Amino acid sequence: MIQSTIQFVLDNKIVEIDFKNSPYTPTTTVLNYLRSLPNHKGTKEGCAEGDCGACSVVLASINAEGNLTYKACDSCLIFLPMLQGKQLITVENVGTSDQMHPVQKAMVDTDGSQCGYCTPGFIMSMFALYKNHQNPSREVIDDALTGNLCRCTGYRPIIEAAIQSCVNEGKDHFEEKENEVKQLLYHIQHHQRSIHIYTEKQTYFQPKNLKDALGLRRQKPEALLINGATDLALKVTKNKELLPSLIDLSGIQELQQIEDLGKNIIIGSGATLEEIKNYCQEILPALYDTLAVFGSLQIRNLATMGGNLGSASPIGDTPPILMAYDASVIVQSVRGERTIRLLDFITGYRATLLEKDEIITHILVPKPAENVHVKWYKISKRKDLDISTVSAGFRLELDEDEVVKDIRLVYGGMAAMTKRAKEAEEYLLGKRWERSHIEHAMGLIDQAFTPISDARSSKDGRRVMARNLLMKFWVETVGVNV
Ligand SMILES: Cc1cc2nc3c(=O)[nH]c(=O)nc-3n(C[C@H](O)[C@H](O)[C@H](O)COP(=O)(O)OP(=O)(O)OC[C@H]3O[C@@H](n4cnc5c(N)ncnc54)[C@H](O)[C@@H]3O)c2cc1C
Ligand code: FES
Ligand code: FES
Repeated sequence: MIQSTIQFVLDNKIVEIDFKNSPYTPTTTVLNYLRSLPNHKGTKEGCAEGDCGACSVVLASINAEGNLTYKACDSCLIFLPMLQGKQLITVENVGTSDQMHPVQKAMVDTDGSQCGYCTPGFIMSMFALYKNHQNPSREVIDDALTGNLCRCTGYRPIIEAAIQSCVNEGKDHFEEKENEVKQLLYHIQHHQRSIHIYTEKQTYFQPKNLKDALGLRRQKPEALLINGATDLALKVTKNKELLPSLIDLSGIQELQQIEDLGKNIIIGSGATLEEIKNYCQEILPALYDTLAVFGSLQIRNLATMGGNLGSASPIGDTPPILMAYDASVIVQSVRGERTIRLLDFITGYRATLLEKDEIITHILVPKPAENVHVKWYKISKRKDLDISTVSAGFRLELDEDEVVKDIRLVYGGMAAMTKRAKEAEEYLLGKRWERSHIEHAMGLIDQAFTPISDARSSKDGRRVMARNLLMKFWVETVGVNV
């Protein structure tokens, strides 16, 4: 059974869009959709690439416990069909000048409302913070606001507004309407089928389960897969490309699970990076460190690990750390399933071993033994919301005499693909973990790489960074077994 329309909740009502009879296409962004409506122009376009947060909205959906969860997202990166089964909340819904929400009132009281362009986005991020945290720490507040830029004044009064307002267990007028909204969302879910949209120029499929997705992948090998669309949406918003055929995996619950299997953590390719981050803080701390500085909360609420590995970018943040953990990807097609070590999976610049009919379904991450040390480093021009200039995932196992039993030095940003410094690894294996050997190995790191010069750094700068990261790793791990 399939359907050709999408349904979501806006202004506490179900909205249905039939793309055959509408001015919208399946790749119209939620931002452009809102800007086309008479009463939702508070959502602004600043950059159209996920960097400024002026377009922030909140998406609410029902979680496994039957509660509504509220997530701030950049509406410039969301294609309309991705709203299926969700509540879209904009700044107009949060409050009005007659009936202000506590976060809006606090922004007024602290003089945090600085310009009309950015303030709606700040309100939306603060609203999601309000719903999810009571008395949040400064770290949580900073993280919630990282994806919202102000170019005029500064963040102090805005942060003060968040501190003042987020004290109320999320109580507000949304609470009164939650049951009503849940009924609407349950109604949509109950009638939900796989979505097949055919327009004159585009086809867009949103399968409801993995079986349907694999069937479609086989039938439409030319279609692009999307999940969070935080990479792919830029083709539309920046390059103005027409994407003729898309298979959107974001509605497949089977791909969104994260589970502890004992020796391994299995992560669904469609789990969002924010969900993975929250899950792995204790179990895979170096992966947590990676995700803590990945994009912004708005990006992590959409982006997936399947998308980060699927794009196989040489500056993608998860490949180096996942290779250091010795992770594998599980890929599936109607022909069956394969498990491939991530070290082998990425084969070149944005190239992988994925066949045309396959989908990355899971990532298998072995839990390291206690005496194995895994660390992650990222050098970028800014700590937050910035792409890596050089990144590294390192793994070290020492014996009781501080001799290297196993070592892996994986770098991002140093070549056309994520790559190991094999010469340095081979040199260090069997040697004592001491400074003189590290200094020699730093000289060998150059041999593995052909970095480029670009806006982020010169190639020589990258070489220095790569060498020094090894020294940093040594400083942080020397004597750990003592
Ligand atoms: C503002 C901003 C900040 C960013 N910051 C970072 C950062 O700090 N670090 C970083 O590494 N990246 C960053 N990115 C890039 C992007 O967010 C990540 O690569 C993200 O993980 C992509 O996931 P997605 O689900 O959105 O992928 P999508 O855009 O949906 O897809 C990306 C690619 O993966 C393929 N794909 C998706 N799912 C699958 C699947 N299940 N199987 C096979 N192929 C699949 C798609 O076909 C496509 O080629 C940033 C992007 C933006 C816009
Ligand atoms: S318009 Fe800048 S993040 Fe969307
Ligand atoms: S609040 Fe808009 S630029 Fe500062």
